[in-house]
Amino acid sequence: MTGNETRDVATPNYTMGYDDEFQALLSRRSAALNAEHLLPRLKSGLRVLDFGCGPGTISMGLADAVAPGELHGIDMEETQIEMAKAAASAGGHSNAIFRTGDVTDLPYEDDFFDVAHCHAVLMHVPGTAETLAEVKRVLKPGGIISARELIGDSMFFEPGGDMDGALEVFKQLLAANGAHPQMGKELKRVLHEAGFSDIEPSASFECYGSTEDVTFYHGFASGWFFTPEIIGAATKYGLATQEQFDGWRATIDEWRDSPGAFATIAWGEAIARKP
Ligand SMILES: C[S@@+](CC[C@H](N)C(=O)[O-])C[C@H]1O[C@@H](n2cnc3c(N)ncnc32)[C@H](O)[C@@H]1O
Repeated sequence: MTGNETRDVATPNYTMGYDDEFQALLSRRSAALNAEHLLPRLKSGLRVLDFGCGPGTISMGLADAVAPGELHGIDMEETQIEMAKAAASAGGHSNAIFRTGDVTDLPYEDDFFDVAHCHAVLMHVPGTAETLAEVKRVLKPGGIISARELIGDSMFFEPGGDMDGALEVFKQLLAANGAHPQMGKELKRVLHEAGFSDIEPSASFECYGSTEDVTFYHGFASGWFFTPEIIGAATKYGLATQEQFDGWRATIDEWRDSPGAFATIAWGEAIARKP
């Protein structure tokens, strides 16, 4: 499930892991789709941090938006950084620089960045205040932070059947790993508590409604949620039984085959300023 249990990182029990199914979900992301709220704020020459950048699929568009300014991507997982470096090299993004590191101990000097961006990261790191304090340290006064994080309560499958139960277990599993499944709606509060100003919250949906997208999301959900690692973790924490997983496995196949199949992932966004 995590691969990080023995490592000294701030997210020792990272729920999503790095398997092929989750990588396929990340590979569909881009700055245009996933950082739409931030792109109008970017301009040539800015220096941007993408913390928890993963394989860098969003980072590339951020790098293009500020070129020849620098995009620095950082992630605790070496394999993700290797993928990001390869993508930057293949795409000719010479202003994109990637390195491994922890978001609670950033290897940059104070007041270094104009913009700090993250997507689906604060929701996973147990210490929100610690992370935001560290990101604030490396931002210039007047610099901005941009975050987009899950609103677990607003995700749905339609027709839902008993998929609400599966979503509930997903949220409980995140929480059991020290994560924050509702971070998307908590962003305004946590940014205020961290001392940021001019906070602009918003929200949006990632939609799976076309035949192609329903097929993809079914493949992702059934490939990721029903692995022995996830079932093992959920049963270990006492969140669900194997029989419940078997039921949800049948329900998600029915969902895929329904003419009304529609599902969403809900996101909260916020942009704020370091005073
Ligand atoms: C859900 S993925 C999101 C990746 C990318 N931002 C995206 O949306 O495509 C979360 C990423 O955060 C990274 N991460 C989690 N905790 C971290 C920490 N404490 N320090 C650095 N990276 C971390 C994980 O390794 C993972 O690559």
